[in-house]
Amino acid sequence: MAQPRILILGAPGAGKGTQSSKIASEFGVEHVTTGDALRANKGMDISEMDTEYDTPREYMDQGELVPDEVVNAIVDEALSQADGFVLDGYPRNLEQAEELEGMTDLDVVLSLDVGEEELVHRLTGRRLDPETGEIYHLEYNPPEDPEVEDRLEQREDDTEETVKERLRVYRENTEPVIDHYDGQGVLERVDGEQAPDEVWADVQATIEDAA
Ligand code: AP5
Repeated sequence: MAQPRILILGAPGAGKGTQSSKIASEFGVEHVTTGDALRANKGMDISEMDTEYDTPREYMDQGELVPDEVVNAIVDEALSQADGFVLDGYPRNLEQAEELEGMTDLDVVLSLDVGEEELVHRLTGRRLDPETGEIYHLEYNPPEDPEVEDRLEQREDDTEETVKERLRVYRENTEPVIDHYDGQGVLERVDGEQAPDEVWADVQATIEDAA
């Protein structure tokens, strides 16, 4: 196949960002992530869109979904420029899934499956390196370099309270998306509770099998 068009689904903290970085470098595809795109544009003025809040920030800091109109435009633009991609963070509800069907075909649809207790532990322990964008975890994947350790930052929506709300929003809005692809018979499930390298081995094999 040409460069693969991959969709990666999973709850907050399932490891989508961790695995997508590897997919992007190993398969030479673009990492299209709505979360990073929105974080880079948190202060964007969306008041003309008839939305409840005037910027994405208010939605994100409360763990709510940013309005579809904003997110659909970001994804449409990014996919139109990509020669092969791994799409991470979208679609998050059935309306977005329908929108995506009008934008592109998909070669692989992956779901990383992780239980709720583990998700909370992963998110509250996650730290990011603001200089490289590298994802760490205080317990599972701490940096070796003390200089990196000193500059690590916690995402504003990784507090326990916001994490609980993000998981509620996920159950209500995004689980039906997973069921939708499952019902179409295209969903490939990967056990996301394994160690990162084991998850990667399964992800890689699943993509190669689909090629
Ligand atoms: P987004 O940035 O997409 O966040 P998310 O879906 O909540 O996912 P995360 O980035 O939190 O988790 P991840 O699965 O990437 O896990 P990671 O690899 O980092 O969205 C944020 C917000 O933006 C949303 O709440 C919403 O407001 C808005 N938004 C985004 N998209 C939108 C859309 N389409 N529509 C509307 N609004 C949208 O891993 C987590 C931690 O676990 C890390 O510390 C990592 O080191 C560790 N880890 C990873 N894998 C393993 C493993 N196998 N074992 C042990 N630890 C592991």
